[in-house]
Amino acid sequence: MAVTVKSAKEIELMREAGRLLEIVHDEMAKMIRPGISTMDINEYGDKVIRDLGCTPNFLNYAGYPASICVSVNEEVVHGIPRRDHILKEGDIVSLDAGLIYKGYHSDAARTHAVGKIAPEVQKLLDVTKQSFFEGIKYAKAGNHLFDISNAIDDYVTPFGYGIVQDLVGHGIGTSLHEDPQIPNFRQKRKGIILVPGMTLAVEPMINMGTWKVKWLDDDWTVISADHSVSAHYENTILITDGEPEILTLHE
Ligand code: MF3
Ligand code: CO
Repeated sequence: MAVTVKSAKEIELMREAGRLLEIVHDEMAKMIRPGISTMDINEYGDKVIRDLGCTPNFLNYAGYPASICVSVNEEVVHGIPRRDHILKEGDIVSLDAGLIYKGYHSDAARTHAVGKIAPEVQKLLDVTKQSFFEGIKYAKAGNHLFDISNAIDDYVTPFGYGIVQDLVGHGIGTSLHEDPQIPNFRQKRKGIILVPGMTLAVEPMINMGTWKVKWLDDDWTVISADHSVSAHYENTILITDGEPEILTLHE
C-alpha cells in the first residue's frame, strides 16, 4: 500500500481523533493504582472512547479481543486484559489505545508506574519516552524516514537497553496500520522522504535487557525473551513544513 498524504480536511479529522485519544489516556492514567485489574482499565478506556462518540479500533482487529492493550512488566505490547490480573505496587503498565473518529484513526501508548517503582525502572520509562522525542526531531519534510529510526537507536543504545525489532511504528489514517513501517533501530537504508500531510505512529518499545521478544500462547502478548521489564511510548504525529505536530499530546 502506498504512503498516504492527507488533505487539509483529513488533517482536521486526524487532529480531532488525536485530541480525543489524549483524553482517553488522561482518564485511564487517573485510575492506575495497586489493586485494579487490567480488565478494569480496558473497560474504562472502552467506555471513555464510546462516550466521546468514537469507536475503539483495536477491538476485533485481527481478532484482538479488547479495546485497550494492557501490558505489565515484562509484557512488551498487546497484553490481553484479564479480570484476574491485578496490578501491584512496583509494577509498570503500558496502555496502548486507539480510536476511530469519523473514519480516521489515532493510536498512542503510555507506560505508567503503579505506586512506587524502582529508580532503574523509572529510568527505563523516562528513556523510552524521551526516545520518541529524540526520534521526532527528525520527523521533518525533506528528511528520510529512517532518520527517525536512527535517532531513536542513537539515543537508547548507550543506556544498554534492548530496542524491540519485531514490532515497529507505522503510517496511520483511514486504517490503523498504513505504510510506511517505522523501525525504532538503526537502518542500513534511508527510507522514504517525508512530506507534509503524512501521519505516522512513532512507537519505541524498549526492554531493560535483551531486545529479543517472544509470544505467549495466547498468540498476542509479546514479552521480553529474558523477562526483563519493558516500556512503550507512542504518539500519532503529523509531518508539516516545520516541526512535527503531535496529534495525541498537547502538554
Ligand atoms: N499500537 C499498536 C500497534 O500499532 C496497536 C495494536 S492493535 C491490536 O500495533 F489490536 F492489534 F492490538
Ligand atoms: Co501503533
